Amino acid sequence: MYFIFATFALLIYFYSTSLLFFLLLWYNFFGDFMNVIIKPKKSINGKFLIPSDKSISHRAVMLGSIANGRTEIENFLESADCLATIDCFRKMGINIFFENKKLIVEGKGLHGLKPPSSNLDVKNSGTTMRLISGILSGQNFDVEITGDESIKKRPMDRIITPLTKMGADIKGKSSKFAPLKIKPSPLNGINYELPVKSAQVKSAILFASLYANGQTMVIEPSPTRDHTEIMLEAFGADIKKIGTKIIISPIGELIAQKITVPSDFSSAAYFIAMALVLENSHIVLENIGVNPTRIGLIHALCEMGADINILNNRKVCGEMVADIEVKSSKLRGIKIGGDIIPIMIDEIPIFAVIALFANGKTIIENAEELMVKESNRIFAMVTELKKMGANIEATPDGMIISGTHTSLKGANLESYGDHRIAMSLAVAGMKADSEIIIKNADCVDVSFPDFFKKIELGN
Ligand code: S3P
Repeated sequence: MYFIFATFALLIYFYSTSLLFFLLLWYNFFGDFMNVIIKPKKSINGKFLIPSDKSISHRAVMLGSIANGRTEIENFLESADCLATIDCFRKMGINIFFENKKLIVEGKGLHGLKPPSSNLDVKNSGTTMRLISGILSGQNFDVEITGDESIKKRPMDRIITPLTKMGADIKGKSSKFAPLKIKPSPLNGINYELPVKSAQVKSAILFASLYANGQTMVIEPSPTRDHTEIMLEAFGADIKKIGTKIIISPIGELIAQKITVPSDFSSAAYFIAMALVLENSHIVLENIGVNPTRIGLIHALCEMGADINILNNRKVCGEMVADIEVKSSKLRGIKIGGDIIPIMIDEIPIFAVIALFANGKTIIENAEELMVKESNRIFAMVTELKKMGANIEATPDGMIISGTHTSLKGANLESYGDHRIAMSLAVAGMKADSEIIIKNADCVDVSFPDFFKKIELGN
């Protein structure tokens, strides 16, 4: 009896300790797996291949899916966000596959999408959720769009309001948040002045206008990225721009296209930053999208005295493309705000890091949109850079940064699950006097999957 009891007790002991052991192992492998260590770096030199443009990749899949025929996309960005877009359209019956490294989208026309058998899941991608809502508002089936915890906190009323004005039946949680439920309802064209300077809102309206009765006019208070307009024109839409007005009228069909996606300026921005702030650096980034509505960062940096050359300007599929040469530079602080903010919105976190190494004060104003991105980017950057000893303060619509930091100190940092925060902090970490740790750094997958491998290549 005693023997049976002892064996039983021993078994329970082994089971519970091995469970604990297993849990610890799991935490180490998977919990810590997401943490990245960045070591100080002296300089960066050479040529770097930057991943393809995220905004253009999303749009190519969306328009390809509702065009007639086979769209071929060269250099499609295979990141988590863009794969989420593919997944949504596959669920609605579109054949999307790789062939000879090109992404093929077998479009079924404006009215060829099928009701999905389950919710559409955009994961972390705000672009997917907002743009796809425009298309789905014009379909003749019910659909629900959901995403991860971050997306459920981001404002969707900015698209619900104009789409509802067009006649869409689109409802959000508390009228504002995802999941979004869309039911069939006839659409009409509208005249709409954008209250927020947002390319996603503009694009949602333009996509919905393809299904509307009559003309739609979107008025932009200041330019935001215009990839949707460029691509709609290429697919044969009846769209024109007159001053601040974009005017679009519905047509019978969109025609499949061959699209080549340039490298993403927003991803190039981290390498531009490294070259500027690491001494004795000289890099060339080839084939970068330099659409004028994306490169506010270049204008700001040139005003600060940056040594940047834009070479071999050319046009590919309606988009401006160039090579960018950057050398280490002595920078001076500046004040930015107003119309430049929307054309460098995703680059402001990395701009804040660059400003730490400029001479004097840099002031960022009118950037309150940063608070509703994948994280609150004003709070995230100020909190984490302060941990490294930076002299940076948050303001209600931006940041004030005191420059001339020759180095920062090592620290344990949080990415807030936001790719642009993780990559910006990584660049800051290269200028620290000892290593930094960035938690949950795998979030870079949404736009730049091999970022940490690539930055190892410098010296
Ligand atoms: C995007 C537009 C911007 C940008 C986002 C991508 C797009 O968002 O921040 O990363 O592809 O249209 P907003 O339209 O919310 O400014």
